[in-house]
Amino acid sequence: MSSRSTLPAWTALQSLAAQQREIHLNDLFSADPSRFSTFSAELPGVLFDYSKQRVDANVMQSLLELAEQCDVAAWRDKMFSGEHINITEDRAVLHVALRDRAKRCILVDGVDVSGEVSRELARMEAFVNAVRSGDWKGYSGEMITDVVSIGIGGSHLGPQMVTEALAAYADETLNVHYVSNVDGTQIATTLNGLDPATTLFVISSKTFTTSETMTNARTALAWLTAAAAEAGISDSKSAAGKHFVAVSSNVAAAGEMGIEQDNIFSMWDWVGGRFSLWSAIGLPVALYLGFEKFVELLEGAHEVDEHFASADFASNIPVLMALLSVWNTTFMGFPAQAILPYDQAMHRLPAYLQQAEMESNGKFVVRDGGSVDYATVPLIWGEVGINGQHAFYQFLHQSPAIIPADFIGSVRSSIEVDGHHDVLMSNYFAQSKALMTGVSAAEIRADLTAKGLSPERIDEIVPHKVHQGNRPTSSFLLSRVEPRTLGMMIALYEHKIFVQGVILDICSFDQWGVELGKVIAKKIEADIAADSMGEAELQQQYDVSTAGLMARYKTMRRS
Ligand code: F6P
Repeated sequence: MSSRSTLPAWTALQSLAAQQREIHLNDLFSADPSRFSTFSAELPGVLFDYSKQRVDANVMQSLLELAEQCDVAAWRDKMFSGEHINITEDRAVLHVALRDRAKRCILVDGVDVSGEVSRELARMEAFVNAVRSGDWKGYSGEMITDVVSIGIGGSHLGPQMVTEALAAYADETLNVHYVSNVDGTQIATTLNGLDPATTLFVISSKTFTTSETMTNARTALAWLTAAAAEAGISDSKSAAGKHFVAVSSNVAAAGEMGIEQDNIFSMWDWVGGRFSLWSAIGLPVALYLGFEKFVELLEGAHEVDEHFASADFASNIPVLMALLSVWNTTFMGFPAQAILPYDQAMHRLPAYLQQAEMESNGKFVVRDGGSVDYATVPLIWGEVGINGQHAFYQFLHQSPAIIPADFIGSVRSSIEVDGHHDVLMSNYFAQSKALMTGVSAAEIRADLTAKGLSPERIDEIVPHKVHQGNRPTSSFLLSRVEPRTLGMMIALYEHKIFVQGVILDICSFDQWGVELGKVIAKKIEADIAADSMGEAELQQQYDVSTAGLMARYKTMRRS
């Protein structure tokens, strides 16, 4: 059992949560006109307002004490200094080294990794420049026009999210496509319309064993070599060499697939998949935007690393984000957290953060092998806010469940179109205000009376229109979504997840929960293929539901 709940700050927060449940945010604002300045923090380009969270000075003080009692500062320093804080896989956790623009010496097991990082970045730069300039030619001697990135999870969500977010900064040089699903429909529709002679594949997989990625990569390889053969190129290996690169920490496996050594970009076991965007996993982004913009992304993240490493916790944004998440989930008992970007560019951010946070901290086991006796990570979900307003915001405003939300908006749009941005941002401001203040029965009654409704009709309608409010939100206001500020936002959430894990006493860097299904799927794949496995045989291996479903699938597939 975790010992967290015996910490003095933990007990204090339990009492404070009982009190806060009885207090409305409206009263907190009435009592403290300086709430906005007290409960906000800022970095150049990113303002973080958490004054609409259900906290007061006492709660924040106890949360900061909790951070201290959980040794957050010591754990942070262990991470930055390359200690093996991924205890179950016995690895360092050093995504910060990938974007350390100060290029400090960072030792992993006594070896300075900063040189390796710089070397790999230099290789990426040379490759990106060669492809974008047209010096890199395909098998027919033509330049590359399309990049297809094949990968899944951490080898897909980050690059794809950034590609979409920064599309306004791309030029016409390359189109980038993403394939993650092993459903053949996705790769078939992506390849349809592409010219093999001008298409480059980036196979991204840290382990180079992930079945979805390997299956898609083999399909792509077959497509490419068939086209090259049709074009009269008999040496399929050399054709593939001009069209396939890999990013992996398993260089040997990438080589076995036939990818040339010079075309393999390394990553390291001290980079977790969901934190790997900053490594060569970001290659599709660099190809799309040019290497300089990729560096700006790294620089933004590095700025946040410096802030996280040095700022006092009372104004340390990722620490505050983590404390608020623990407060809402563990102490206030809110089960979920919505991510609501009011910026079309960030439309894949909720999906990205789902993996980042839930794969990291969606666990019940604490570091010493015991179990938690408290709620850990919330269910992360979301959608571009403006579309959500016309879909699930009804639930956010009036459901009995309270769902804290992060609102993320920008002062300038990626592409300014007359008359649009103020309309969008008016909704960003209005929604968090409405969630906080709500609207009372008396106000509705006054409004309906002024509109001339009969007293009977007013009595019928009033309860339906009441909004209790008191629904907590944080607001991020960016100067604009650009490589630097996007890098900052991603790093803020990464460090938030880290601090959250420390406080919850969780190892945030493994993901054993996704392994079980993978193992079972491998066995099922073989049993589906085996003619000898009829329903009776399947029932000996599986529960009757799974066996029944598999048997029906096999029969229908073969009919
Ligand atoms: O989904 C599980 C997972 O292991 C993630 O942690 C990882 O990002 C993803 O699979 C892809 O793994 P790989 O990069 O090794 O293909």
